[in-house]
Amino acid sequence: MTTLEVRGLTKTFHKIHAVDDVSFTLTAGRTVALVGESGSGKSTIARMIAQLVRPTSGEIALTGPDGEPVPRRRYRDNVQMIFQDPFASLNPFHTVEHHLARPLKLHGRPRTEVPHLLERVSLTADFAHRRPHELSGGQRQRVAIARALAPGAKVIIADEPVSMLDVSIRLGVLKLLARLQREENLAVLYITHDLATARHFSDEVLVMYRGRIVERGPSDDVLVRPQDPYTRRLAAAAPNPESRFSLGGQP
Ligand SMILES: Nc1ncnc2c1ncn2[C@@H]1O[C@H](COP(=O)(O)OP(=O)(O)OP(=O)(O)O)[C@@H](O)[C@H]1O
Ligand SMILES: [Mg+2]
Repeated sequence: MTTLEVRGLTKTFHKIHAVDDVSFTLTAGRTVALVGESGSGKSTIARMIAQLVRPTSGEIALTGPDGEPVPRRRYRDNVQMIFQDPFASLNPFHTVEHHLARPLKLHGRPRTEVPHLLERVSLTADFAHRRPHELSGGQRQRVAIARALAPGAKVIIADEPVSMLDVSIRLGVLKLLARLQREENLAVLYITHDLATARHFSDEVLVMYRGRIVERGPSDDVLVRPQDPYTRRLAAAAPNPESRFSLGGQP
């Protein structure tokens, strides 16, 4: 079973403790939600896991299904990130096929797998020839998810993957991520401001405050019966903490 274990992860930017001694484990077939106010360090954790930012200290260990450490050169194939902005993350000059064929090729897989990748994210094969400006935000985000899957990723880091999408299509993209997680046994880190979807779509919740995890546990326990005063404030500020399908924006 693939696991990604983060131990004592710390990032300091010019004396600011953006992330301070954070530890958790992502496991195949499970979703962990990371919530907390703006500036609490969520994206910095995502970027360290995706190797876009170097940790000041701490470790990130990826173990493959065989129980052995995944070789360093295979890390990026296995751990992929989905970004908040589907408009910035695709190249406007390239077709969908180009976006998907490149990571497939790097992974030694043929271009002919593109239609199958599109199918996995519920897009039809004719999307292959479109360019990003011919897609809706939700369709772009599906392409971004397909691109993350192309190299055979087992761990998906989704940093506010639906917060820039129209409210009406957010649930569809989250359900797609949930289905892929289930069917393909992915380990998912779901970063969000939305406590309702954090509760609905995750098994475990981590609450960040000023770079630290202040509360953690099964989603229902943490979000319905919060113990930490900060989590209580966060839950009280959420638009409608009891409604699982309130998909409002920021608290
Ligand atoms: N490259 C950087 N240089 C300096 N400071 C940074 C850098 N990146 C992040 N920070 C700081 O680190 C802290 C954590 O930022 P981070 O983006 O991780 O927060 P976040 O929880 O993702 O916030 P949001 O919910 O607004 O996305 C903030 O104080 C931020 O200003
Ligand atoms: Mg962020």
